[in-house]
Amino acid sequence: MTQGRRSAGGDTEAVAGGAADPHRPGGPGPGPLDEAERLSRDELAALQLERLRAALAHAYENVAPYRRKFDAAGVTPDDCRTLADLARFPFTTKADLREHYPYGMFAVPMDRVRRLHASSGTTGRPTVVGYTERDLSMWADVVARSIRAAGGRPGHKVHISYGYGLFTGGLGAHYGAERAGCTVIPASGGMTARQVRIIEDFRPEIIMVTPSYMLTLIDEFERQGIDPRTTSLKIGIFGAEPWTEQMRREIEERLDIHAVDIYGLSEVIGPGVAQECVETKDGLHIWEDHFYPEVVDPVTGEVLPDGERGELVFTALTKEALPMIRYRTRDLTRLLPGTARPAFRRMEKVTGRCDDMVIVRGVNLFPGQVEEIVIGTPGVAPHFQLVLTRRGRMDHLTVRAEARPGTGSETRAAAAAAIAQRLKDGAGLSADVEIVDPETLERSVGKIRRIVDRRGE
Ligand code: DLL
Repeated sequence: MTQGRRSAGGDTEAVAGGAADPHRPGGPGPGPLDEAERLSRDELAALQLERLRAALAHAYENVAPYRRKFDAAGVTPDDCRTLADLARFPFTTKADLREHYPYGMFAVPMDRVRRLHASSGTTGRPTVVGYTERDLSMWADVVARSIRAAGGRPGHKVHISYGYGLFTGGLGAHYGAERAGCTVIPASGGMTARQVRIIEDFRPEIIMVTPSYMLTLIDEFERQGIDPRTTSLKIGIFGAEPWTEQMRREIEERLDIHAVDIYGLSEVIGPGVAQECVETKDGLHIWEDHFYPEVVDPVTGEVLPDGERGELVFTALTKEALPMIRYRTRDLTRLLPGTARPAFRRMEKVTGRCDDMVIVRGVNLFPGQVEEIVIGTPGVAPHFQLVLTRRGRMDHLTVRAEARPGTGSETRAAAAAAIAQRLKDGAGLSADVEIVDPETLERSVGKIRRIVDRRGE
């Protein structure tokens, strides 16, 4: 947090404790908490076990593919007597949802399904997810809890630039913000110049958007001659894609806000599975009263102890329409003890997915590693792409990063050399680095695509 940052409590400071900045580390506290947020770890574990047993029974009794998989693994819901017993049950993957597209994994009759969402389906059939009325209400509750953890309070105006539509970001944030007692500005994604105008005129305290689209918006403020630090915004709740600590600093500095992380995925509910608390900014508290996390070895599937890095797996404890048992997220992270919300474990910021990793000449590389390097390099803007090609039989990586406006050729050459050197030292990888002109790389309006893979061309 920089000196002089505005209060994240905004107009409703009294609710949060009345100090100048109720969310500075060590400040007077987080404001109002849900009942579940006040449970002890033991009370939470008891609630989880009760809910887990019911969730397994619901899936087994009402979803034929779950019944077949449990039977094949030789387990029934009654075999779950402790939370650790969950490890005996089979995993669920995106392939299961695709195979039973669109409604084959639903556990309730369609007349109880109030809403559908779907993934974009860029890599095959989309996956379809459904919600009962109670599911929608639980979802609004966890997003409202997330907004409060970010410092949002009733009366705040929330500008939502996550896309509205089949993507869960827009509508998920929307109903959560309403549930939190906030005023929603449903901007959706795109029409960037108009977004800037709306933020200037409607004066929201909070913005919810992907971090990459936030950068696009910041650039647009500057293009219109408006200093982004002078906006009404105090808090940004960023997620739907990986972003690094370096990116947090960049956004906090350029916008003069608190930037916190929100995580979720459609199959589990949407945004609001886990949220970073603004008073600590130390990873995301998982709302474990609804979503039970495990971390497993991505290759063997073996459950790893807390603290070890691996693939995140979620079991939804309270969902009706689409039960989700041991869903393999492909996201890489580790579980840590709770801090600002002691009963809830944290997950470390997700900086990569199993399937986002590029393997270049045998070296594993995540876009996040490049982001950390690019953002720390003088003269370079936080816009970059990884272009993969083939040279003969060898993979070749070119990092294309954009110069900040006004950066001369000497600084650009030094930046290219510095990035190449840091990639070599840090990741053990040789790459070409091109520093391209400002405004030349594709801008994000939602989730950014960092990897351009031309190896098959
Ligand atoms: O992206 C839900 C969401 C919307 C989360 C808005 C946060 C804000 P999907 O489209 O199903 O759902 O994509 C889920 O996005 O498995 C992660 O790989 C990635 N992801 C989501 N949040 C984060 C985050 C939404 N905070 C996939 N950090 C997940 C890193 C994230 N990756």
